[in-house]
Amino acid sequence: MDCFDVEKMIEVLLVLLLMKPAETAGPVRFVNFTNPDYCAPKGSSVEFKCSYIYPDKETVTKTAWRKGHLKDGKWVRIELSDLPSYHNRSEYLGDHQHNCGLALHNLEDNDTGYYYFWFDTNMYGRPSKDSVHLSVIGDKLSASVQPQRVTAGNNVTLQCQTGCQHPNIVWFKDGHPWAKPNFQAQAEDAGKYWCALEGYESMRSDPMALDVWYSPMNVSVEVSHVGALMPGSSVNLTCDSVARPAADLYTWYRSNSSSSSPLQVSSGQVLSLSALNVNHNGLYFCRAKNRVGESSSTAVLVEVEEASSEFNHFILARIGVKLVIVLLLTPVIIWAWRRRRCSAANKHAENNDYEDI
Ligand SMILES: *[C@@H]1O[C@H](CO)[C@@H](O)[C@H](O)[C@H]1NC(C)=O
Ligand SMILES: *[C@@H]1O[C@H](CO)[C@@H](O)[C@H](O)[C@H]1NC(C)=O
Ligand SMILES: *[C@@H]1O[C@H](CO)[C@@H](O)[C@H](O)[C@H]1NC(C)=O
Ligand SMILES: *[C@@H]1O[C@H](CO)[C@@H](O)[C@H](O)[C@H]1NC(C)=O
Repeated sequence: MDCFDVEKMIEVLLVLLLMKPAETAGPVRFVNFTNPDYCAPKGSSVEFKCSYIYPDKETVTKTAWRKGHLKDGKWVRIELSDLPSYHNRSEYLGDHQHNCGLALHNLEDNDTGYYYFWFDTNMYGRPSKDSVHLSVIGDKLSASVQPQRVTAGNNVTLQCQTGCQHPNIVWFKDGHPWAKPNFQAQAEDAGKYWCALEGYESMRSDPMALDVWYSPMNVSVEVSHVGALMPGSSVNLTCDSVARPAADLYTWYRSNSSSSSPLQVSSGQVLSLSALNVNHNGLYFCRAKNRVGESSSTAVLVEVEEASSEFNHFILARIGVKLVIVLLLTPVIIWAWRRRRCSAANKHAENNDYEDI
């Protein structure tokens, strides 16, 4: 609103009035501005893109850029070459053909206003009164993020106050270009946002923070002990989650098998199970809750080794080894015993033969 004060409204009205005769000059003779409304920060440069046409048989004898001024209640246009403050700062980029570009450098506050391109041909003088508007803005842009704190899924609007009539705004989030000034916030959209004028990205607004609240995500159970759980030992199950604000209520559930319905067993972030025995066996999961919502982890299996069966395995294993040894040794013993008996019998026979001889 502040950029559209009374003086400018008068300027606009005057321009509209003064533009009428230009239109009646006919379509063969006109000035075209790619963008009729520029906005640039103080101290920067701006380039008006401009082209003009006229009947082929005519030749251009003079070109000039002028600035509109309200002087003693009258709208006057003064050539930039007659305004000392533009001497070193204005640069005609056009020619005597069809290009009428103009650059203004090192912009000052009072460069704000309407600029006119006029050209004379050998047959027709000063035909064009079309203008381009320039707003020179101070070094402060101001960004706003509405709302500054939002629950995931809700809408956020970014606004940039520039003092320009039709600014081309660009947004950045944490240093990266950000395309959408209206969006549904997700957890990862939390961060700092700032705006700039397109083409003048080095002049930024102050960054504005967006805080996004969301219910617990990635809820998981961390088990303190890796490997088999021995009877009598203890284990801690910790419920981890990513949430904003942090989860402040945890509930633990157990089911004895994947088919039975879970029972609440405890609350608190850590579930400590001590003096473990087979009655602790089951599927455990936790629910994490914050003021936005809650969600569950996947289940982890707690299975305590069975003391007796462990013992039996050990005994059986030893019995097994003994059996194998006995089974392997038996033929050897029998063979050895039979050999001894055989050789004793042979000795006896030899002796007999000997005696017989
Ligand atoms: C314009 O430029 C000339 C030389 O480039 C310099 O001598 C002069 O001081 C400048 N004038 C202003 C008003 O900046
Ligand atoms: C614009 O302001 C500058 C100082 O910022 C001054 O030197 C200059 O004369 C002013 N120009 C006009 C046209 O008022
Ligand atoms: C949550 O889990 C997903 C995939 O499992 C992962 O890509 C993401 O980075 C996790 N989020 C956080 C904040 O850890
Ligand atoms: C479980 O947690 C408690 C307290 O946090 C700790 O004193 C204990 O040593 C932990 N036990 C195991 C098995 O990590």
